[in-house]
Amino acid sequence: MKPIRPASRLGFEIAIICALTIEADAVEALFDQYWDEDHSFGKSPGDPNAYTTGSIGRHNIVLAHMPGMGKANATIVASHCRTSYPNIELALIVGVCGAVLIVSSNSIEIVLGDIIMSSGIVQYDFGRRLPEHFMHKDTLLDSLGRPNMEIRALLAKLEGRRSRKLLSGKIINHLMELQKEADLHAQYPGNSSDKLFEASFRHLSDGKTCEECNCNGQLMPRTRLEQQEIQPAVHFGLIASGNTMMKFGTERDEIARQEGIIAFEMESAGVWDTFPCIAIKGAYDYADSHKTKKWQRYAAATAAACAKAFLEFWEPSATDQSMNRPAPKFVVPYPNNPDFVGRSDILQQLKDKLGHEEQTNGPSVPRLSLFGLGGVGKTQIALQYIYWLRGINPAISILWVHASSADRFRQSYLSIAEEYQIPGYDDPKSDLLLLVKCWLERTDCEPWLMVFDNSSSFTLFPLL
Ligand SMILES: *[C@@H]1O[C@H](CO)[C@@H](O)[C@H](O)[C@H]1NC(C)=O
Ligand SMILES: *[C@@H]1O[C@H](CO)[C@@H](O)[C@H](O)[C@H]1NC(C)=O
Ligand SMILES: *[C@@H]1O[C@H](CO)[C@@H](O)[C@H](O)[C@H]1NC(C)=O
Repeated sequence: MKPIRPASRLGFEIAIICALTIEADAVEALFDQYWDEDHSFGKSPGDPNAYTTGSIGRHNIVLAHMPGMGKANATIVASHCRTSYPNIELALIVGVCGAVLIVSSNSIEIVLGDIIMSSGIVQYDFGRRLPEHFMHKDTLLDSLGRPNMEIRALLAKLEGRRSRKLLSGKIINHLMELQKEADLHAQYPGNSSDKLFEASFRHLSDGKTCEECNCNGQLMPRTRLEQQEIQPAVHFGLIASGNTMMKFGTERDEIARQEGIIAFEMESAGVWDTFPCIAIKGAYDYADSHKTKKWQRYAAATAAACAKAFLEFWEPSATDQSMNRPAPKFVVPYPNNPDFVGRSDILQQLKDKLGHEEQTNGPSVPRLSLFGLGGVGKTQIALQYIYWLRGINPAISILWVHASSADRFRQSYLSIAEEYQIPGYDDPKSDLLLLVKCWLERTDCEPWLMVFDNSSSFTLFPLL
């Protein structure tokens, strides 16, 4: 089931972060729907990130494009993404990595194009003796995130025999989709260019490929490369994330042995502190000096295919579903006036024009204004209408806003935000008006009616 377009940025719970354009290209090609073709969801003030929004499978997805590689870039991108998309529960870091030839947990030798899914991240840097470990913690990152226990449990399930088969089948299907797009160049580059030299054999000449400079060191024996058809396999394990590219076979093997690492990359450590995350990385080289771009596009494609396959196993959160709607709110500062009489013609017009069916939110929310000189009873008519409406449809939230001045307007929005306990409302830095607007625009928000009382002009409604 495809999700509907969220009303605002608050409707996104999954982010995908890509360091390179070719990585983002592969992910974008697997979107089922795009949401930003007509207009984008905008972003928080000061957020320099570029985003693509759309859906993959049952999930709405925001894809954040990084301006460059490395931990520092990743940290900046993730923290801005969190401000603009505060409801993100899971970030996938999708792209390419350098693999380590070890027999991984599933006893399958790693070859180029295989996918590594992180069970944890180890931060390493040259010159530092003790790498830091970031294991999937059981604690909540904060009140918005779902526990990482959920990530761990799903990864454990996927490592099982049956899920692994299901996952592999899905990956191959998605990869075939990508291979239909000629300009993605996602074909398997061929087993003869998957060369793993002995760790101590250094590349002969920088700036040239192994073929050009005739690298002729001892190759490691590779049984998987002898197979007729090589399909990408998934490996679960620790990924080392460093500020610099790992380029030396001997150091690679030493760190890998000490820490039990199966891949090297440069971004995950930067995202880790901000979001619960999983790195899904296609192996495009062996983290040694014989680097080549030849495998980049294929590895980016296998990683993107795996990310899409993974998302089929990840359940959309319950808040997505309208049955979990919060109780309706009634934020009205005046009591009902049972003695009110007359004005039945105007009241009837209100009932007819606004309708009392359950309204769907969105651009077509009906609006209506009651105007007239002060003291003619506009407030009383509005009150009469809302108490009647509440009587016939208790599921509607009714929100009263004093609109006589900017201060009172803001004060009313604060009461509304407080009533809903909108995340971030008590942060003095947050834009209260935008926060409430985005909250009410959520697709899963219960129906609501807002009354702007005592407004003498429309200049106070920049957000309507
Ligand atoms: C971000 O990436 C670009 C391009 O790779 C690089 O030049 C720049 O130094 C990076 N920024 C930081 C803060 O590391
Ligand atoms: C590549 O695959 C072919 C058959 O599919 C096999 O004969 C050949 O030995 C393989 N090459 C390597 C380097 O394993
Ligand atoms: C309506 O607004 C005017 C100022 O524009 C103010 O004097 C008056 O008290 C307000 N009435 C209510 C009921 O808030």
